Amino acid sequence: MSGETPASAEELWSAVDSYIRDRLIPQDPVLDAALAASDASGLPPIATSAAQGKLLELLARAHGARRILELGTLGAYSTIWLARSLPPDGELITLEADPRNARVAESNIQAAGFGQIVQLRLGPALETLPKLAAEGTPFDLIFIDADKRNDESYLEWSLKLSRPGSVIIVDNVVGAGAIIDPNARNPWGEEGGVDGVRRFYDRLGAETRLDATVIQTVGEKGHDGFALAIVK
Ligand code: SAH
Ligand code: DHB
Ligand code: MG
Repeated sequence: MSGETPASAEELWSAVDSYIRDRLIPQDPVLDAALAASDASGLPPIATSAAQGKLLELLARAHGARRILELGTLGAYSTIWLARSLPPDGELITLEADPRNARVAESNIQAAGFGQIVQLRLGPALETLPKLAAEGTPFDLIFIDADKRNDESYLEWSLKLSRPGSVIIVDNVVGAGAIIDPNARNPWGEEGGVDGVRRFYDRLGAETRLDATVIQTVGEKGHDGFALAIVK
């Protein structure tokens, strides 16, 4: 790509992501293997990019997170990035509804050496979240990246599962502009996803217990964005 003119905005974003990765994110056999195993098992290529995954790790580390909750594991790519931020006695619970994804994720988590730190709970997140709330201990950081139609409920549960100062990060809140397009179809391949994200925004904006912003992103995963909120 270098030296050539990218044919499209998407190609340019991807080429810049490669430039960033080449300079700032060293070769990473563990994460490469997790992605290769996910590919080989037929999982879709919808994990965060390397630059986004590392952002998650750095945010969690900057925050001093010791307990992390993730909604939506897929093959555990973002899980492994987040787990790297944790101290040896840290804890990461990740929720996944699809048993096939969960099998691939478990294997990737073991291979990455995080079997002690990461616990995968299989089942629809809305069934697992009340159990976590009953268990009591709040999370320092919550990463929401599951089915978008339930983002508003996930935000509500996140408030129950957090403490003042907890950080909530939500992936896929822009969808290449679908959120402002009345004719938008399903940018995340999910019926009702866009309306779900719009309800999430309305709730986030009205929620007096949170301070929040959204940052749009472009890169090898196209145009999307992260919401970042802090519990007051
Ligand atoms: N966080 C991952 C990507 C997650 S993709 C990464 O960046 O590496 C979204 C995942 O959410 C998929 O694995 C999908 O099976 C899962 N998911 C969808 N609906 C869910 C639900 N109701 N409960 C839990 N997980 C769900
Ligand atoms: C897609 C991307 C995501 O980051 C996600 O969590 C779910 C779906 C997608 O591009 O289809
Ligand atoms: Mg996502």
